[in-house]
Amino acid sequence: MKILKRFHLPILMLVFCGAGCLNDKALLLRSDEKYTDQNAFGTIRTSSKTLAPVYAPLAEQIVSDFDLSKKDGIGIDLGGGPGTLIVELCKHTQLHWINADINPHFFPHFYRQAEECGFGHRVSAMFADAHSLPFRDNYADIIVSRGSYHFWEDKVRAFSEIYRVLKPGAVAYIGRGFSRNLPVETAKKIRAKQGKKMRYDVGKKADELYNIMNELGIKDYRIDIPKPPGSENVNYGIWVEFSKPEANVCRKEGGQDNKSNAKSKSVESGLYPNRAISGYCHYQPVDGNTHTGFAQGAV
Ligand SMILES: C[S@@+](CC[C@H](N)C(=O)[O-])C[C@H]1O[C@@H](n2cnc3c(N)ncnc32)[C@H](O)[C@@H]1O
Repeated sequence: MKILKRFHLPILMLVFCGAGCLNDKALLLRSDEKYTDQNAFGTIRTSSKTLAPVYAPLAEQIVSDFDLSKKDGIGIDLGGGPGTLIVELCKHTQLHWINADINPHFFPHFYRQAEECGFGHRVSAMFADAHSLPFRDNYADIIVSRGSYHFWEDKVRAFSEIYRVLKPGAVAYIGRGFSRNLPVETAKKIRAKQGKKMRYDVGKKADELYNIMNELGIKDYRIDIPKPPGSENVNYGIWVEFSKPEANVCRKEGGQDNKSNAKSKSVESGLYPNRAISGYCHYQPVDGNTHTGFAQGAV
């Protein structure tokens, strides 16, 4: 009894601490937690097995379509997950690539992969929700995303975030599935392994993307449904490519437009009618004269 009395305080403290820890653990492992390490582990396994042949051709197509081989600056892979596409993109570009994903449990694997391929210094990882991207306006030279957009709850908002983060003149390529240069036999094998879950209606998905572009007033876009010869019964997925017009009509000394037609396109797009954009340049406002200073306008 005496012993118990002498130790009752430390014992009580241990019990409280234990309960506290259990409570913390329960908080950490809430059953509705979507972005767990198990979740990341499953995707990493799929990306290194079933989907492994997908990334290299996709990276080659992106580099060739958007002429990236000599481009430097910032590329973002939104929902990049394991980061396999980024590693392939590093092989063919000089860009610094950011894996922006809502599940940070991917990042140790991503950095390991990049290090092993000699690209550790060319990549970053950023905890990011597509609905509210942690990047400033006009930041990225290109944004890509594979197999992620269908998870975004408010797609209009997420696509408007992508548009906001794109530099004027930069392009985004967002979608799911395969690139057109993936051999048909490989695509068939992958789809057979994936089973029913990838038998979605591409036509409906195209309508959805079309509506998003319309709602955002993005005029400069292309919906891409890859259909290489022989792929008639194979679902190659769906992609949307869109770009942000040059924001300001910046005139070189001497009065020549840096980029033609830019102002009318950005005004037409109707995006962010209340958002002021600014940049120091020579610009031509509506009065037709060339001014120097901070340009402000609606994009
Ligand atoms: C099927 S995985 C595709 C991963 C990778 N892009 C690939 O092709 O291997 C979907 C990815 O989207 C990410 N994701 C889902 N919702 C997201 C959101 N709201 N914002 C950012 N990433 C998201 C997931 O964490 C996951 O990494």
